[in-house]
Amino acid sequence: MTAERTLVLVKPDGVQRGLIGEVVARLERRGLHLVGLKLMVIDEDLAARHYAEHVGKPFYPGLVRFITSAPVVAMVWEGPDAVALVRSTMGATNPAASAPGTIRGDLAVSIGTNIVHGSDSPARAEVEIGLFFHTKELVSWGSAVAEWTLGG
Ligand code: RTP
Ligand code: MG
Repeated sequence: MTAERTLVLVKPDGVQRGLIGEVVARLERRGLHLVGLKLMVIDEDLAARHYAEHVGKPFYPGLVRFITSAPVVAMVWEGPDAVALVRSTMGATNPAASAPGTIRGDLAVSIGTNIVHGSDSPARAEVEIGLFFHTKELVSWGSAVAEWTLGG
């Protein structure tokens, strides 16, 4: 099976609260494979491209202000069904509805500051990865434990 890739952001609130390691640890422990990582500040142009689907919604101006307000950590994670695995590890968008055990369900209280972003479909993941990373910044590497996480 071809491994799927997805874009994950530790949003400004997650970085400010010292939760970078917490997010990385949860995705690593889940069995996903990290293939790209950088600390960066999102500018207005990138924010507009990344959140294009939300243009015109009442929360859009605040969302762009927030995502550009401080550094984020951008990552690409790989694995079978990586998009769905990341979304289930993140929990529902609104932390009030996120299940305990998820990142948002354990660590967040507000929909505006919900710590992480994960692409919502494989097609969208491809677009978002292209927005944040050059191909040469993504490193494929063999995992010695793959047979124990993915099955033989
Ligand atoms: P994300 O894109 O950040 O991974 O989150 P998501 O797919 O779970 O949620 P999405 O619908 O794509 O919304 C993007 C972000 O916009 C903020 N939001 N605020 N106030 C509101 O009603 C509202 N709705 C969405 C959230 O921070 C959400 O993560
Ligand atoms: Mg989304």
